[in-house]
Amino acid sequence: MGNGMVAAERSLSLYSLISRKNTPDPHNFYDRLAREAPVHWDPYTRCWLVSGRAEALQVLSDDVFSSGRLLHSDALHAHTSLADLSTVHKEIGKQLLFVDGDAHAKLRKIIQGVLTPRRLQPMKARISALADDLTDFSDGGPFDVVERIAQPLPFRVAAEFLGLPEDDFDTLKAWSDSYTDIVTGFEPTIGSAVASQMLSYLEYAVDLVRARRRRPSGDGLSLIISAADGVSGLDDHSVASNLIMLLAAGHQTAPGFLAGSVLEMVGPSSGFGPVGRVGAAPDVEDLLARVSPSRFVGRTAVRSTSVGGCVIEEGQSVLVLLAAVNWSDLRRQRRAVPVGQDRAPAHIAFGYGRHRCPGAYLAKLEGEIVLSAVERRFPDMRLAEEEISWDGNVNLPCPVRLNITNG
Ligand code: HEM
Repeated sequence: MGNGMVAAERSLSLYSLISRKNTPDPHNFYDRLAREAPVHWDPYTRCWLVSGRAEALQVLSDDVFSSGRLLHSDALHAHTSLADLSTVHKEIGKQLLFVDGDAHAKLRKIIQGVLTPRRLQPMKARISALADDLTDFSDGGPFDVVERIAQPLPFRVAAEFLGLPEDDFDTLKAWSDSYTDIVTGFEPTIGSAVASQMLSYLEYAVDLVRARRRRPSGDGLSLIISAADGVSGLDDHSVASNLIMLLAAGHQTAPGFLAGSVLEMVGPSSGFGPVGRVGAAPDVEDLLARVSPSRFVGRTAVRSTSVGGCVIEEGQSVLVLLAAVNWSDLRRQRRAVPVGQDRAPAHIAFGYGRHRCPGAYLAKLEGEIVLSAVERRFPDMRLAEEEISWDGNVNLPCPVRLNITNG
């Protein structure tokens, strides 16, 4: 048992970040973890919290740590009827985010092949048009960044890119939010109502895949279907399940990034001073490091191993706190550091290693275009909120509302 295992203080638990209304400032928590326990057993969430840079990169690049974390959740078993549960489990377990080894490599090649800058090129003009449209308001009142642009734009971009039917966008958004409730957070939970919604969503997605296979077009889904054709293990159910994951990945992290970035631009809540610039646009890399929209990623140890002097037992869960690593690096004014032969990324907001976000290019494109559009409309941007309320998602926090005005 390592040193981290004895510390059972609640203020060092991930629970200290949970609050429905006002997300507490996480930075004290990150500072204390960095100082006292870069690898820390959190007895309240029953997870190891890893916040040291070297230790985080070790976990994210070592095969000992599996991404098949959902299947280990006791909470999942506690709340759902077993029949629904086993189907939902089986289908979610096929998604890129939750598979390892060869199955992951095969699937990743297909999804990465769809999210290349070349394929995404046509979306650039579409994102600019949407950003102009969504920031075009003339009623003179405050502008709610979350409702007007941070929430709707990433969903629409992902759904249009994939070629999903526009008439179904509202239903798909609701289903996708339920899916995200299941898979994010440090302790996924699922109730019967959410499970049956997921079953409808899965059925819808399989029908859509079959229909698109019969009538392909140039959209992202058609590209995935044709790339998956003939690849063993990738049947229509698997493609459908990954479609669900891709839509969610495309629109669930970006709202917190966009809204958190505007907060930094209005008056840096991180305390790091004015946001950097790249030409005329806000520096999205600087903002990603400051905001760290996806605070942590989960893994499960498949064998007992040692990280930072602590023994992690087989079957134990590990949360790598990307946000804490980025925060410590910013604090140390650290830039690229050599790791083995590679240069470490300046931030790990998109993760690290085999599962590093393949949507990073699209996310940064959205950031550059949206944040520039907001600046153009609000050259003297000012916050019109006394206090920021957060949505309660401890992993992907987003303000409930973020009103800004000019001057
Ligand atoms: C600011 C926005 C975004 C952030 C911060 C972000 C963050 C991340 C992180 C941290 C991971 C790694 C998960 C892990 O290691 O378990 C990830 C994976 C992934 N992301 Fe993103 N993401 C963003 C936007 C997007 C977009 C726009 C898309 C696609 C349309 C996308 C698609 C994916 C996919 C498919 C994976 C799974 C990769 C794999 O497991 O191999 N993401 N993302």
